[in-house]
Formats: sequence, structure tokens, C-alpha cells
Amino acid sequence: MTAPAQGLLGPLDPAWEDGDPNPLVPEHQARLAELRALDGELAALYERGAAALAGAPSAATLKERQVVLLGRERGVLTAALAELPALPVDIRKVRGRGLNLVKRWLGEVEEARRRELEQVAETRAAAGLDVTLPGRRPWVGRAHVLAQVQAEMLDLFHGLGYSVYSSPEVEHESYNFGKLNFPPDHPARDAHDTYWIDPGQVLLRTHTSPGWIRAMEERKPPLRLVFPGRVFRAEQVDASHMDQFHQMDGLFVARDVSMADLKGTLATFARAIYGPQVRTRLVPIYFPFVEPGCQLDIACAICDGKGEVAGGRCPVCKGSGWSELLGAGMVHPNVFRAVGYDPEEVTGFAFGMGLERIAMARWAIPEIRLFLENDLRFLNQF
Ligand code: PHE
Repeated sequence: MTAPAQGLLGPLDPAWEDGDPNPLVPEHQARLAELRALDGELAALYERGAAALAGAPSAATLKERQVVLLGRERGVLTAALAELPALPVDIRKVRGRGLNLVKRWLGEVEEARRRELEQVAETRAAAGLDVTLPGRRPWVGRAHVLAQVQAEMLDLFHGLGYSVYSSPEVEHESYNFGKLNFPPDHPARDAHDTYWIDPGQVLLRTHTSPGWIRAMEERKPPLRLVFPGRVFRAEQVDASHMDQFHQMDGLFVARDVSMADLKGTLATFARAIYGPQVRTRLVPIYFPFVEPGCQLDIACAICDGKGEVAGGRCPVCKGSGWSELLGAGMVHPNVFRAVGYDPEEVTGFAFGMGLERIAMARWAIPEIRLFLENDLRFLNQF
């Protein structure tokens, strides 16, 4: 008698990867043993089929293998079951029972593997991992708005022949005050305005002007320098005051430098930063380290210099129509004497401005604390 189910393993692709059915179906080994006792060929079909189902790498390959093994039309088991009626009755009984066991058990392996693959897909989706999506554009940082303003101003002053001079944030009293011609009782030295490290001796610099002294002590004239950096004042913090902010001083020392040179430089600066139509004025004001001293005002950006908005007083310039942009003046002879320059021989001008104030006037930023909060919703606007 020819074994009717001979060649049961024939349609199974030898290239199918094997997997381990044991974790999927705990009864696997017992079932295999039971089949071996019944019929070696059926045991081989179950063993190979279960391994192929367990090893299916994807839902699609699992479906392919399921069709070959268990498909209702052309599956190996369907075909073998169809041959049963031709068998002698005693063989038919054993064979039929064995084929039905293989069919049911392979069905269980298939289902367990299908669940497993679904689970993997779900966890991937939940973790937001979809390897088929196109790549995301990486987030790149940008320079802080103040760094951008500073870079723009350095670019401007480099064009006018200035170089950068860096000086320390922790400064000696004599550089911050004494050699800059502050009298010993000047209120700026007061503990209320200054963060003292060693009272009366060492402090956090309250402006970038101490850099002039260091540069002039180190170098001979002529000098054309800018001094960008962070400064500190013991301020009550509010919308327009911070206890740390940024300044940039400028210093030009040579023979026959005049107030006209200063005015021309400041006008060039204001036009470069605020546009050619900007209106400016110089107002006399006192600083210990310059004589004469002045401040540069620009027409208020909010009320366009009118001092009022919609019939009321402009809240930004407080009705004056002008807003103060920087301090400036001709370097005081006492400052030259303090560094060993001869005030009969050299003259010079200096100016100093706050970068926050310049940025606030330019973009109508109402709140100085924004610069230090590092809120990307603010920073990304620049
Ligand atoms: N250092 C002054 C300040 O911090 C600004 C200034 C600089 C004024 C240079 C005049 C000349 O307010």
C-alpha cells in the first residue's frame, strides 16, 4: 500500500526561517511526542510547520505559511484530509485523528505567533517609532537675540576701525571707579547700587568702562577699541531693570579727536541700527569720566517723537518724545592722567550703551526679564 500522505512536507519551502514554538505553546513538546508515537511523518509535518509559523518574521509571511499549511483550498492538511476516504478503515481512523490534531495544533501556533506580531506592532506604534517615516529636520539652535545685536554692532564698529578688548567681570574698585574719576563719595559706590565681593576693594563691574583703563595702561595711543560684556548692578528688578545686563563701550584716543568726531560716529551708529530716517539729539549730562558729557536720544519709536499716543501721554517715553540710548563724551583729563597719558597731547571720546535697551527700542520689547528667561517662544522670534 502506498502511503497516501507521502510527501506531506513537499509543499513546505525549505527557505522558511525556523522559530521556537515552545514559548508560544507550552504544550508543544508533549504534542510532538504524542504525534511521534502516532505517526512519524505527521510528527515531522507538525514539527517543521510549527517552527516555520513561530519563525515568521512578519504578519505577511505568517499568512503565506498559514495558507500553505492550513489553507482551506490548497493547504497541505486539507489535501491530506481529502485523501482519507480512500484509505482502509483502520488506517483511516488513526491517520484522520493525527491529521486533525496537527491541523488544530498548527492553528494554535499560528494564532499565538499572530498575536505576538500584533503586540510588537502596537508597542512600536505606542512608542511613536515608525521606521518608514521620513527623517525629521534636526533642531538647530541660534544665537541669543543679545548675541545677535552684539555681533551686528561689532561688525559695524569693526568697519569703523575698532577692535574688541575684553576685561574682567570681577573688577577692582580703582578700575571700576577710582581711575575713572569717581569722587570717593560718589553714590554709585554705595552698597545699594554695587555688588561688592570685598567691600571697598573688589566688585562685580557696574559698567564696561573699566576696560578703558586696562587698555590704556597696557597700550600706547592711538587706540580705537570697543568693550562688550556683562555688567551688574544691585537693582530692584522690574520690567525695565535687571541686576545684570550687557553693555558695549567704545573708546577712541588719538591727537585732535573732537566732539564732532563723536557726533559723526554716534550718528553713523544710530542710522546703522535703526535705519537712515532715525532722528537723534545730543543732550548734555554728567558722567565723572567725561567732560563734556552727553547722552544720545532717539525719537521715541512708539509715538514717533510726538510724546502722545491716541490723545494720551506716550507710556514709553513718558511724553518727552525721546528715549535715551547711550551715554558719551570727551574723555576726562583726570582719566588720562590716571593711566599716564598726557591730556595736553591726546584727546579722545568714549561712549557706552546697554544692549538690552537697544534691542528693546528696536523691536518694541516691553520687558527686560525676557532676555534672561530662555523661553524659546521669545527667543525663536529673533
Ligand atoms: N559707563 C556709563 C554707564 O554705565 C556709560 C558711559 C560710557 C557714559 C562712556 C559716557 C561715556 O552708564
